[in-house]
Parts: sequence; structure tokens; C-alpha cells
Amino acid sequence: MFQRLGIVAATAAVAVVGGGSAAVAAPDTESTAGTAPSASAGPRIVTDVAHRGASGYAPENTLAAIDEANEHNATTAEVDVQRSSDGALVVIHDTTLERTTDVEEVYPDRDPYDVADFTLGELRELDAGSWFDGEYADEPIPTLEEVLDRMDQNGLNLLLEIKSPSLYPGIESDIADTIRDNPQWLAPGGGEAHRLVIQSFDWESVERSSDELPQIPHGLLGEVPEDEIADYAAWADQINPNHTGLDADYVDAVHDAGLEVFPYTLNDAESMRSVIGMGADGIISDYPDIAREVIEDEDASRLPRSLP
Ligand code: G3P
Ligand code: CA
Repeated sequence: MFQRLGIVAATAAVAVVGGGSAAVAAPDTESTAGTAPSASAGPRIVTDVAHRGASGYAPENTLAAIDEANEHNATTAEVDVQRSSDGALVVIHDTTLERTTDVEEVYPDRDPYDVADFTLGELRELDAGSWFDGEYADEPIPTLEEVLDRMDQNGLNLLLEIKSPSLYPGIESDIADTIRDNPQWLAPGGGEAHRLVIQSFDWESVERSSDELPQIPHGLLGEVPEDEIADYAAWADQINPNHTGLDADYVDAVHDAGLEVFPYTLNDAESMRSVIGMGADGIISDYPDIAREVIEDEDASRLPRSLP
């Protein structure tokens, strides 16, 4: 039985896989640091995370990609958060606008097209869908508030990446304010997965965010050197590295420190099986339906051996 936000859903993609560690839902009042159980615990959870929404099926970081994550039975959607020149939190990956919008046509004189130089009103004039497929023409850059609302409607959990926070001083408190304004995101996940995790490649930003929202699990993107993992365990809950170069010894070291591992970005079944075999707690993929099938296959093949 698989659950997302407490709704029993046979097709949702959190699966119990036998033989590893068990991820746990975040408590709602205390710091969650060190919540990943030891590798010797019973059946463990592998969470299916749709990368930038289900970005294999719809333009990344749009409401359409969030909807596709839901349609493809992801448990969680990952998005990237930045800030407009007038202080709005917006969801977009690149720090410049050319790759995923028509900014050069709409604002031909605004080179270098930094997200941070445009007001929310200006950003909302852009088409963030046509680059992916004409079917998505005029899909806007969404605000974080819109993404939270849509994910609430869809029952998805959120993996929120603070993108390039050095460009946006104070963005951690802006995000925290937005989350506090939407307190349902502070509650623990109703199923096996975390309701909300905040992560960044900028580990100082993650620590600032953890100070703001200690009740929310936080993740360090990239590969923390093994001999430094323990230093972060007081306030971090996940280490989320690129899957290339990941090995079981590193996953064990992270688990030994009490943290989880959600590698990115895996788009083929073979690499997904490989990281599940290493003990990964989640899979971040552009194709959450492929991840779900692999997770369920692994569940079917391994769980019976772990039952009495
Ligand atoms: O969640 C991990 C992944 O999103 C980090 O890489 O470049 O896709 O933001 P990127
Ligand atoms: Ca990201």
C-alpha cells in the first residue's frame, strides 16, 4: 500500500523496499536533523520525486509540469525558487531567462536577461512553455504561491530548491514567510514521504533556511566529503548528490550520520535500480512514472524476503 498525503493510492509512488533503512515523516515542532534511521532498520521507503515537475512531459517548473507530476503518480515534485526585482518568489531554474522563455522577443533591449532584473509583472508577460512544445504556448513562470496552491490541490509533496541564493540576499526568510503563510506545509507528511524539504547547492543558505524553519527537513545538494558529513548532521537531514559517481559506501556513510540520500537526476530504469540497490531513499527524475515502476518492481521483488 502506498500513500501520498495520507490518501491511500495504489498507484502513488512511495514504496516500501525490504532490507534497508526507513525514511520517516518530519515531526512538526522539533528540528528534524538526524531523522534517517540506520541502515539496519526494517523495510525502507523510496520516494519518487518529479524533477522540476515532471519535466520530461511538460515545460520545467511550470504548473503544467506540476500537473504532469500528479498525472504520472509522483509522490513529490522538485522546483527551483528565485526572486523577481520587486520581491516576488518565482519558480524557474536558470538565473537568466533566454533558455526557457521568449524574453529576447518580448524585451529585446534587456540583455543579460537576469531573472533578478525583472519585475513579477514583466516576468508574467513571458511564454515559458513554447520552447518545450507549442502545446504549452503562454504557460507562465509561476509564483511559489501558485505552485504551493496547485500542489495542495494535487496532493503532491514539495522538494524546494533555493536556486543561486547568493543572488537573492534574504531569500531564505522570504521563503520561510511564504511557508508560514501556508501552514499546511509545516505539517508532517500524511504518508511515508516528507511534506516539504528545502535544499540548495549553497549549504550556508540551507543552514540559514534551517534556522528559519527548524521543523522542516533540509537537504544539501552535491556531495559533502565523507569526513565532513557529521559536521552537517546537527541541522541537515539529506545529502542529495548527482547519481553519477555515487556508491553504496557513500550512501552508508550518510545513513550512518542519520541523514537520507536523494540522488538526481535519474531518467532510466537501470540507474534507478542501481541507486535503490545502494540504499538511496529517493529518486529525482524527469520521468516519475519510470521511477514509480522501478520502485514498485523493487518492492515486489524484495519485500517478501523481509517479511516474517
Ligand atoms: O533536485 C536536484 C536537482 O534539481 C539539482 O540540479 O540543476 O536540476 O537544479 P538542477
Ligand atoms: Ca533543481
